[in-house]
Amino acid sequence: MIQRCIQCDARYPLEQVVFTCDACGSVLEIAVDANSLGDVQMCGRGVWRYASFLPVDASKRVSLSEGDTGFHPCPTLAKMYGIDRMFVKNEGENPTCSFKDRGMTVGVTKAIEMGAKAVACASTGNTAASLAAYGGRAGLNAVVLIPGGNVAMGKIAQSVAHGAQIVQVDGNFDDAMRVVRELSAETGDVYLLNSINPFRLEGQKTLAFEVCEALGDAPDALVLPMGNAGNISAIWKGFREFRDAGLSTKLPRMIGVQAEGAAPIAKFVNDNLDKCYVSEPETIATAIRIGAPVNWAKAVAAIHDSHGLAATVSDAEILAAQRELAHREGVFVEPASVAPIAYLKKHGVDAETVVCVTTGHGLKDPDAILRVEPTILHAQPTLDSLQEALGLR
Ligand code: F0G
Repeated sequence: MIQRCIQCDARYPLEQVVFTCDACGSVLEIAVDANSLGDVQMCGRGVWRYASFLPVDASKRVSLSEGDTGFHPCPTLAKMYGIDRMFVKNEGENPTCSFKDRGMTVGVTKAIEMGAKAVACASTGNTAASLAAYGGRAGLNAVVLIPGGNVAMGKIAQSVAHGAQIVQVDGNFDDAMRVVRELSAETGDVYLLNSINPFRLEGQKTLAFEVCEALGDAPDALVLPMGNAGNISAIWKGFREFRDAGLSTKLPRMIGVQAEGAAPIAKFVNDNLDKCYVSEPETIATAIRIGAPVNWAKAVAAIHDSHGLAATVSDAEILAAQRELAHREGVFVEPASVAPIAYLKKHGVDAETVVCVTTGHGLKDPDAILRVEPTILHAQPTLDSLQEALGLR
């Protein structure tokens, strides 16, 4: 395995700390020749079951048993939306309740290999929570930069609990991202663990492996939210590697969904813009409130190569779908996570088997669900009063 520039194919050894290509400035990926993996050993469960596909020493892993998340059939919603077979891969069932843990277990293991003293990220909340947990467990100082306002309370609580140094930056996520990149470039000891780090994305690709194993092959379409666009890139890479290793036969269409007010990739792909950027991203789905996604080029390639698409949904559609998924299928996820459901509710999909990736737990952002005043009945502690409150008499 080696690090490779996705644009100009320049190569860098795995031991080199480098996030963008010295030659052309584009992002890097880990080149894994899945054809040459031979007989792949898959033991145990979760991310490390797929250690043969990962570019770090599994015996030194920093792990909290991430991955192996719930894979839930959604027959009620499938019927409502006119879909043959619909599943939710619920990444809210990870240790810190988001998909970031798949990447962080590999990324923090790499940080230890590289002798880092500290790990850092800019974050809309979930990366920060995950970095804080894994960094703390590994005995590293965790530095998390969050945008001013608009970070869900549950996520901040997690970063506090895990003992991170939390810096609120006067600006949005994109500003925080820029300055944390400058910090890690300046200070060799601070290892950057945003999704521009290709080792982190290697952990995230294992979602594709789990989905293939659950279904016996890849689905026809995979729908997921896009923010910084690391996850769609990672999962697409995973599907290709599993197929190249002879462990699956087909590839899904990758459907990336953004919120209308923060949709640089959907705009870039659908409106033929020359820059993948929006200046004032705004959405209730604060996790994906991002205007300058660092992995845009990888995401655009995933969408193009898979014959997929990039779409948008409104905040109102997101909130409606959030309740519908929780009510009808018992899966409560945060607003960003439900963008794929909102998309399917609106448009359906021309595919037999569809998997939605719900990326983070609903309790991370209780304020979002409680924006609509809940109906809470009141009763005295007597049977009469209870029956009356419930309209049973
Ligand atoms: N869903 C949730 C719940 C997220 O937290 C994020 C990203 C995404 C989707 C989008 O994933 O960036 O790989 O396209 N959250 C980052 C963070 C930006 O800082 O926690 P992506």
